This record gives sequence, structure tokens and C-alpha cells, in this order.
Amino acid sequence: MTTKMTRRDWLTGSATAAAATLALSGTKATAQTFMQPNVNPTAENPIRAHFNENPYGQSKMAIKAMKDAFDKSHLYTFREVFDLMGLMAELEDIPFEYVTLGAGSTEILEKAAVLNHVSGGAVMSPTPTYGDIARFSKTLGTKLIEVPVGDDLAINLEAMRAAMTDEVKLIYLCNPNNPIPTIIEKNALKEFITEMSNRGVTVLVDEAYHEYVDNPDYESMVSMVRENKNVIVTRTASKIHAFAGVRIGICYSHPDFVQKSYGLFSNTLNYTAIRGAMASYRDTEYQAFLKQKNKECLEICYEMFEELGLEYVKSNANFTFFNAGRPALEVAETMKKHHILTGREFKLYSNWVRLSMTKPEEMKYFVEKYKQEYA
Ligand SMILES: Cc1ncc(COP(=O)(O)O)c(C=O)c1O
Repeated sequence: MTTKMTRRDWLTGSATAAAATLALSGTKATAQTFMQPNVNPTAENPIRAHFNENPYGQSKMAIKAMKDAFDKSHLYTFREVFDLMGLMAELEDIPFEYVTLGAGSTEILEKAAVLNHVSGGAVMSPTPTYGDIARFSKTLGTKLIEVPVGDDLAINLEAMRAAMTDEVKLIYLCNPNNPIPTIIEKNALKEFITEMSNRGVTVLVDEAYHEYVDNPDYESMVSMVRENKNVIVTRTASKIHAFAGVRIGICYSHPDFVQKSYGLFSNTLNYTAIRGAMASYRDTEYQAFLKQKNKECLEICYEMFEELGLEYVKSNANFTFFNAGRPALEVAETMKKHHILTGREFKLYSNWVRLSMTKPEEMKYFVEKYKQEYA
């Protein structure tokens, strides 16, 4: 028996039924079985709501491109790396010289932290936020100033201004932030970047969750890179493109930073990742599907938060943040018994849980188990 699955079936979810048919018939399924929700999680195969990954996996086109590329992966990527840089430049309508790539955006954060340390600057970062820049800075012995988010849980630019010193040469802003998925209002952010840049301070805006944002107050800061030497924008293929284990990160910055970073580090990209990313970024249909699924997941969670009267943050990313009224670690232990993994504890917000969106059916399962424990 053969079951033909169209791209439309796959995107609309009828693929689940088709894949199940294949499995039942004993035919070796070539369908993307990761489209099926995990509603019978086990210790070995839990619902992974703790790492902000993309549970649907990569675009079919990206998978094909990676499989095809494997045959050429004995070659260095001298030319291919420029192909991907070209695509990233084209997508953001920015000259090619403003683009650098890394094996994940972590590599770019490392470069920024190292270059800042070498130049003798201190670092300023909000807290809580994505911790890499703070961690690298501590390891390097760079002075680090951390500024708590505001009462509205958003990054507090006023407080950051007030905490500024002449030593600070790098400011890290994660927008949308992580673990709290708030955004910084676009005009306030532009003003802040211009002001800091005029003081000779570089602002690094980490836009790892850019593709998920649907908020008129948000704007990518790539537009500022053209006019401004002191702004660096990072993106990652790890989130909506599901490349967390494949590793592609993108950096938009002035060619000065590009040159400095090339002077210190080398090309770490692999052939399959480059080819996969070329295909993935062109597959806008799949990105739209994932965005829609993410919204559905968030709505399922919001409904429970409202019902149980739990404080929560309306998300601009693929995770939410809610006040469980009990330690996040306790919630994690309890949910783990149901084979659902939830976020770790975050400094200053120990009763708040970061919950990554997985698939709607899985979030319903989470809601069922959460209510069983705590309603
Ligand atoms: C805000 C933020 N920046 C960067 C990263 C690192 O991503 P990558 O996989 O591109 O190294 C993450 C990963 O979770 C993140 O949340």
C-alpha cells in the first residue's frame, strides 16, 4: 500500500493521519513523524517544554537539502558560506559586507564578549535575560553591571541609563527578552541605541525570537545597523528554523566589527548546515505554519492561566512566563513525574515558570496535568 502525502496535507496536519496509516500498515514511514504530537510521553520521550526548541523539526525542504549536501561535506565551505551570507543580506536588504555567520548565534555572542574584553570595556545587561554574555564576561573577568527589569517585566532602559558608567563599552539587549518574553518599544530602543552609540558604546541586540513576534510596538534593529557603527544584531536559525542541533547564527553589524571578528576567529560553519539554512529561510510557508502553531499553543496556556488566576506574560516568542505561586523547581519536579519538562529557576523570579511552546495537543496535555496537580 502506498500513501501519497501532499505538502498541503503535511502543513494542515492531515499528515498526522497519513503518517499513522503508514505506521499501521507496517510500511517504513518516510513521512515526517515529528508532526505527530507526543500525547503519551515517557521518561525517555518527554514533552520538552524547557529549552525553547522547535518540536516540529526542520522544513522538509531543509531536510532534503541537508541530505543532498551530505555527499559534499568532505569539502571546505569557502564558497557556500558566501552564498548564505548573500541570502541573509538579501533577506534584510543590507549590503553583504554587514553580514557574518556563526555556528549558532552563541558564537557571535562569544566574539562580541571577547572583543569587548580585549578593548578593556565593561558590560551592561538587564536581568533576568539570556545569560551567555554575562557568563562569558564573568569568565573573562570583564566588569558586569546587571540591571533588573521593570515592574512591567520589560527591560528597563531608564534604569540602564541611570546605571551607565564610562567603563561600559558593550550593552546586551535581548529583544524579545528571554526568559521573560517582553519586547522593548521600537522608538524607545532606537533612541537608546543612538544615545549610547554617541557615547561610543556598542549595543548588541539579540533577536533570537524575532520570527515569532507579532507586535506593532516591535521592530528589528537591523535597520539601524546601516547608519550606525555601534550596533550589532544577532539572529539564530535555532528557533523557528529548528536548527538548534544543526547550528547557524547570523550577525548584522558594521563591516568594522565584521573585520575584527574575522581577525580573531575562523569559519566554523559546516556544509550541511549552510545548505539546509539556504533552503529553510526560503520556505516561508513552513515558517507561517510554525508561527500559527505557536499561537495556538500560547492560547491554550493563556486560557488556563486565566482560569486559575495566574499572573502571566503575553508572549512575543515561543515560550511564556507565568507565576506559579510556588517555586519553579517544585513545578519542574512535579511535571517531570508526568514526563513534561518545564523551565529552570530564574534569578529574582523563582516562582515564575518559563514554559516553552511545543505542539497544541501537547500543551493541552500539560494543562490537563497541571490542573490535576494544582487546580
Ligand atoms: C536569546 C537567545 N540568544 C541566543 C541563543 C543561542 O542560540 P544559538 O542556538 O543560536 O546559539 C538562545 C538560545 O536559547 C537564546 O534564547
